[in-house]
Amino acid sequence: MKTSIEEHLLAWFRQTKRDLPWRRTYDPYHVWISEIMLQQTQMDRGVEYFRRWIARFPDVTAVAEAEEQEILKLWEGLGYYARARNLYRAAKVMKERHAGSIPCDYQILRTLPGIGPYTAAAIASIACNQNVPVIDANVARIFARLFDLDEPNKGSLFRKKLEQHALDLLPEGKARIFNQALMDLGGLICTPKNPSCEQCPLAHACLALLRGVVADRPVTGSRQKTIVIEMATGILAHAGRLFIQQRLADDIWGGLWEFPGGRLEEGETPEQAVVREYEEETGFAVKVCGYITTVIHHYTRYKVVLHCFACRAEGDVNSPKREAAQQNRWVLPAELAAYAFPAGHRKLLEHMRQYCPDRLIDPCCRSGAACMNEDQSVSGSGN
Ligand code: ADE
Repeated sequence: MKTSIEEHLLAWFRQTKRDLPWRRTYDPYHVWISEIMLQQTQMDRGVEYFRRWIARFPDVTAVAEAEEQEILKLWEGLGYYARARNLYRAAKVMKERHAGSIPCDYQILRTLPGIGPYTAAAIASIACNQNVPVIDANVARIFARLFDLDEPNKGSLFRKKLEQHALDLLPEGKARIFNQALMDLGGLICTPKNPSCEQCPLAHACLALLRGVVADRPVTGSRQKTIVIEMATGILAHAGRLFIQQRLADDIWGGLWEFPGGRLEEGETPEQAVVREYEEETGFAVKVCGYITTVIHHYTRYKVVLHCFACRAEGDVNSPKREAAQQNRWVLPAELAAYAFPAGHRKLLEHMRQYCPDRLIDPCCRSGAACMNEDQSVSGSGN
C-alpha cells in the first residue's frame, strides 16, 4: 500500500534538487557516464570529471572510437580503472549493436560490460523513467532507518527486503525523480555519520528516529581490518629519459603506466626489493643510488606504503624483457604528463616536481640530491 512517504520525499526533492549537469536533459549517455563515475566517487569530483569527459567525448561513438590510453588518461585520479576499461568496451558494443545509443531496457543494460544491477536500474529509471527501484548504499541506509531494519545490511534476503520497500513506495511513472530523490536524501540528509534528521522530510515517519537508534542503522558487520602492503619502486634514467612500463591488461591497474617495482618479499629491505623487481620485470641490473620519498596511499581496505628510490643502471638497458608489461618505454620527463599512472606513482611524481625536479632529469645527481622533506612521507587516500 502506498503511504504519504513518497509524497513528502518528492515535494522535498522538487524544492532542493541539486543542479547536476546530467539532470538538465537526462540524455541516457550523460546518465550512464555520471553513474559509472559516481561509483566510489564524491559528487564534486564526479561533476568535475563528468564535465571534462563530455567536452572530450560528446557521445557513445566518440568513446568507442578513442584509444584506450586516452580513456585511461581522462580517468586518471578517479581510481577503480576497471570502470573506465568496461565503459570503453560497453561503448564499442553500443556502437556496433545499438546504433551508438544506450538501450533503455534493464535486462539488455545488464548484458553490457560494467553495468551491474545498480547501474542498470539507475539508467533505466533516471534516463528512461522506467519503473525500476534503485538500491545503493544510500537507499539501503534510508530504508534501514525509515523501517528500523535491524538485520545486518548484507546478503540477498536483506536486499530483497529493501527492493520490496522500494517497490511499495515507488510511484508509477515517477521513478526518475523518486530514485534521484532517495539518492539526494542519502547523500545530503540521511548521511552515514551525523545525519540531519531535523531537516529530513521523512522524519515524521522514521522508525529509527522514533526509537532513538538512527546511529545504529543500518546494522553493519564487524569492520574489516586495514591490511598494510609494503611496496618499493625505483626511478631509472638513461640519456635523459626515464624508464616506464605499461601494466598487463589483466589486473586492476591494467593499461596504466608505472616505474618498475612491486611488493616486498619476506625479510627483504625496500632497496633489495627494487633491485629484484627490476631484474624480474625488465632484466636490467640496477643499483639504488638514493632515497626519494615514501608515499602512503589508502585503497579500499589496503594501506599501501610505497618506498621510492632513485636507481642507476649497472649494465645494458637497451632490451628490456617483454613478458612482464604490455609495453616498455624510455620517456622524457616532460612527456610523463601524457601517461596515466596509478595513485602512488602519481604522488611520487607530484612530490618530485615540487621538491626535487632535478632528480627527474638525473635521479642519482649529487647536487640537490635531497628531496626536501625526505623525512616526511606523502600521505593521502583516493585513487
Ligand atoms: N549518486 C549516484 N548517482 C547519483 C545521482 N544520479 N544523483 C545523485 N547522487 C547519485
